[in-house]
Amino acid sequence: MAGTKLAVIYYSSTGTVHAMAERLAAAGEKAGATVRLRQVAELAPAEAIASNAAWSQHFDRTKDEPRATADDIVWADAVLLGSPTRYGNIASQLKQFLDTLGPQWTQGLLADKVYAGFTATMTAHGGQETTLLALYNTIYHFGGIIVPPGYTDPLKFADGNPYGVSHVTGGNNDEPLTDVQYAALDHLTERVLRIAAKLRD
Ligand SMILES: Cc1cc2nc3c(=O)[nH]c(=O)nc-3n(C[C@H](O)[C@H](O)[C@H](O)COP(=O)(O)O)c2cc1C
Repeated sequence: MAGTKLAVIYYSSTGTVHAMAERLAAAGEKAGATVRLRQVAELAPAEAIASNAAWSQHFDRTKDEPRATADDIVWADAVLLGSPTRYGNIASQLKQFLDTLGPQWTQGLLADKVYAGFTATMTAHGGQETTLLALYNTIYHFGGIIVPPGYTDPLKFADGNPYGVSHVTGGNNDEPLTDVQYAALDHLTERVLRIAAKLRD
């Protein structure tokens, strides 16, 4: 897995998916991968961000971090894509990023890579699976190789999501990640890197 290139590309309004992305990147580095951790551009109008204190704080904290570009996917052997759930779907900010990749898609530059997703919802049945499956629709069009975690390790019976990794933020949108999620994030990283390394051979 050493030298395998991992891109972690995500959107986050209030920091949950950001924390998940940071854990994935750290796990990738620990496994010897070369990692790019990139958030996609914020597109919401300033007044929408200002209407939510947690969103404003997260925006201010992360506004100088590097933004995802098409090259981050073209460069990578494995791509982990993350988004909070929006009405059971991915956030428009991540979708907008994916929708700018037409030139790379037509050249086949997004194909033959390993992809997997991660997400967060406020409620347990608020759409984690639908969000991940909606994300994966795009990956089929890329010709990407979706590597879901499945139940390939006993720890997946604890976090319970075979489609990717997810977290429930709760009614106040502030439930922190637990050891269960951290273990699932580490497992997903190890798995996508292992499969990506096999494909590079
Ligand atoms: C416009 C909007 C739509 C949302 N839709 C859902 C939803 O369908 N199901 C759900 O459980 N939570 C929903 N949420 C809550 C977010 O998914 C939750 O706040 C998010 O996962 C937190 O991630 P973040 O901290 O990375 O932004 C929604 C939030 C917003 C602002």
